[in-house]
Amino acid sequence: INDRRESLYIVSGFASKFFQQQMFETDEGKSIGLSYFKERGFRDDIIKKFELGYSPDVWDSLTTAATSEGYNIQFLEETGLTIRKDNDKFYDRFRGRVMFPIHSFTGRVIGFGGRTLKTDKAVPKYVNSPESDIYHKSNVLYGLSFAKKAIRDLDNCYLVEGYADVLSVHQAGIENVVASSGTSLTVDQIRLIKRFTENVTILYDGDDAGIKASLRGLDMILEEGLNVKVVLFPDGDDPDSYVQKFGSAAFKTHIEQSKKDFILFKTGVLLKDAGKDPIKRAGIIREVVESIAKIPDGIKASVFVRECSSLLQIEERVLISELNKIRAAKN
Ligand code: CTP
Ligand code: MN
Ligand code: MN
Ligand code: MN
Ligand code: MN
Repeated sequence: INDRRESLYIVSGFASKFFQQQMFETDEGKSIGLSYFKERGFRDDIIKKFELGYSPDVWDSLTTAATSEGYNIQFLEETGLTIRKDNDKFYDRFRGRVMFPIHSFTGRVIGFGGRTLKTDKAVPKYVNSPESDIYHKSNVLYGLSFAKKAIRDLDNCYLVEGYADVLSVHQAGIENVVASSGTSLTVDQIRLIKRFTENVTILYDGDDAGIKASLRGLDMILEEGLNVKVVLFPDGDDPDSYVQKFGSAAFKTHIEQSKKDFILFKTGVLLKDAGKDPIKRAGIIREVVESIAKIPDGIKASVFVRECSSLLQIEERVLISELNKIRAAKN
C-alpha cells in the first residue's frame, strides 16, 4: 500500500467527519447547512447515509482543525482541501457551503462537492475538489458505493447529472442511481458501470444542456457495447425536482412511459431541429446510422436498422449500405 495515497484518504475522511460535525453540532451549521438540506426535502437518514456536511463561512476552519490534530499540511494541500497563498498562508477551499463527500466505489471519501447557499449568479453554484492522486474525476461516479448492489440486483443503472438527483432518487427508494457530476460522461465511467450491469438509463436534465449531454453520452455507451435508454424530464425539471414535486410513484411512471431507446430518442431530437427541411432530414438518417455503426454486436445493430427504417420511412437496404460505408471508413 502506498503510504502517501493512504494519507490522502485519511485526511479526506477527517474532513468529511469535520464537515458533518460542523453541520450537526454548531449553531451556524444547524441553522444554515442542515436547514438547507431539510428545506430541499432530504430526510435525516439520507443526510446521514451520504455523510452530508457543512463548511463554516470562515477562512480556515478545516485547515486549523486538521493541523491542530496533527494532520500534515502537505496532504491537506494535495487533496485541494487547503489552498496555499503567498507561500506561507493557508485557507480552506470550501467555505460557507453545504458539502457532498464523493466516495470511491469501495466507499472511501476521495473528494467533495460544495454547494453555495447564495443565489448570487456571480458565485459558482458548485465548487469541487481538484484532481489528486486519490481523486480522478473521469473515473468516478457519484453515489456508486451506495448504488452498486441495487444496480447489480436490478440489472440497470440510472445515470443522472447531479448530486441532488442521486440523493432524491435514492431517497424515493430507487437506489440504482449514480451521477456523472457535471463532467461529460467518460469511457472510464461507462466501464465502471459495466462491472455491474449492461443496461443504462440516462435521466438527464430537461434543458438543452441535458439533451446535448444525453446525445453525446449515448454514442459512447453504445460503443462500449451497453444497452441504453433515455428519459427526458420536462424543461426546467431534473430528476431531483421531479421526484420531490410529484413523488416516487409518479417518477417511476414517468420513466416507464417516456423512456426511449436511442433511435427513438435521437431521431426525435433531430427531427424537431430539422423541421420540414429535406436536406436536414437526410442528415438525420446519416447521424442515426452513425450511432448504429457504433454498436459492436451485429445482431443488435440489425434490429436497430429495422426500427430506423420504419421510423424514418427509409428502405433497409439504403440504411445498410450507409452503415457499411461508415464501417468501411472506420477500418
Ligand atoms: N456542477 C458543477 N459545477 C457547477 C455546476 C454544476 O460541478 N458550477 C455539477 C454538479 O455535480 C451538479 C451537476 O453538475 O450536481 C449538475 O448541474 P446542475 O444541473 O446545474 O446542478 P444541480 O445538481 O441540479 O444542482 P441543484 O439542484 O443543487 O441546484
Ligand atoms: Mn493516480
Ligand atoms: Mn442542468
Ligand atoms: Mn437540481
Ligand atoms: Mn440539475
